[in-house]
Amino acid sequence: MKVAVVKENAPGERRVALVPETVPRLIQAGLDVLVEAGAGDGAWFPDSAYSEAGAAIVKTDDLYKTADVILTVTRPDEAQVRRLRAGQAVFGMLSPLIDPRLARELAGKNVTAVSLDGLPRTLSRAQGMDALTSQANVAGYKAVLIAAAAYGRFFPLLITAAGTARPAKLLVLGTGVAGLQAIGTARRLGALVSGYDVRPASKGEVESLGATFIELTSVASAAGEGGYARELTEDERQAQQAELTSHIARHDVVITTAQVPGRRPPLLITEDAVKSMAAGSVIMDMGASELGGNVAGSVAGETVVTENGVTIIGAQNLPSTVPTASSSAYSRNISALLLHMTADGALKIDTGDEIQAGVVVAYDGVVVHPAVAQLIDLEGGR
Ligand code: NAI
Repeated sequence: MKVAVVKENAPGERRVALVPETVPRLIQAGLDVLVEAGAGDGAWFPDSAYSEAGAAIVKTDDLYKTADVILTVTRPDEAQVRRLRAGQAVFGMLSPLIDPRLARELAGKNVTAVSLDGLPRTLSRAQGMDALTSQANVAGYKAVLIAAAAYGRFFPLLITAAGTARPAKLLVLGTGVAGLQAIGTARRLGALVSGYDVRPASKGEVESLGATFIELTSVASAAGEGGYARELTEDERQAQQAELTSHIARHDVVITTAQVPGRRPPLLITEDAVKSMAAGSVIMDMGASELGGNVAGSVAGETVVTENGVTIIGAQNLPSTVPTASSSAYSRNISALLLHMTADGALKIDTGDEIQAGVVVAYDGVVVHPAVAQLIDLEGGR
């Protein structure tokens, strides 16, 4: 079976799906590894490193002609999809629950689609394949560095001959994987850190990192299925925003990470909350997206400074800005999943397997993932 690594085409994307270090693992499993020329350049992995690891460097046309399995980080673009042919498989972060059209198109071409973002998160044997977690970890780390760079004071307590600087007070809203990594990173930089989440289970995790957990009296548990949060009702949302505002006003830096699967990111910081912050404060909205974000006025990929002097940074593809680390982790995730789905040197699709049931989106000309198929039906088969 020929496994091919494509050069990512999305604007600004610097990650690569497989790094040289992982190539021998696939070769040992009896697979051939092909790498599109220049695929690893953005993450500082030159073609020569892949060749030395045993991969063949190929031109784009040859890759699509000969590959059995194609590994990507993000969704293939239109030109890449056009090149795919029946019988091939694509592994990547295909976000089929955000836009199911790609799944339908791939099924229509009889291309097998495997999406790492559907992996069951709480299954311990799948943890090494969990790309959402590995990429969220990178994002949480980088978010703190960006916020620290935009902040006009120090994060740690500093006692110097020129005076004493008090530590920054930093609040993390949404303490899943990215939020916990942000807490750990901010603590290492010396900030005084608090965290908040609607899932009560995260209290212990926040406290174990040495941060203070903020409990709101107005919102009860909003733990949903699979360890995720559920969407708040309109009343809960308003009560949460109002109660959070007083906490936000007391902090110098706020990092938001809140997400609810398949929904718009919840608005946690209202315009009033932004106005309540002191000049020089920084907000990093990791939930920023085309669908809106966690912060009123945030724009993905842009930094805005409000009239009252608050810097609001809309995050955009943070993992890609730490490309070597994020690619290395992703490479381990995607190869572990690929090997889990390979038997005797060939892909063996079995949606009866709990892991495969989550990740296999299209197979044998059909969108087999029930949630994705349902979404396509709801959208009228678009
Ligand atoms: P996510 O990216 O979907 O959301 C980030 C955080 O936002 C979550 O903690 C969520 O509870 C929180 N959130 C959502 N709405 C909110 C609101 N209105 N106000 C405040 N916070 C809000 O979550 P992520 O990071 O992908 O983690 C999802 C879950 O999966 C977590 O429970 C995590 O612990 C769990 N997980 C478990 C793993 C394991 O058991 N091995 C591995 C990875 C994740």
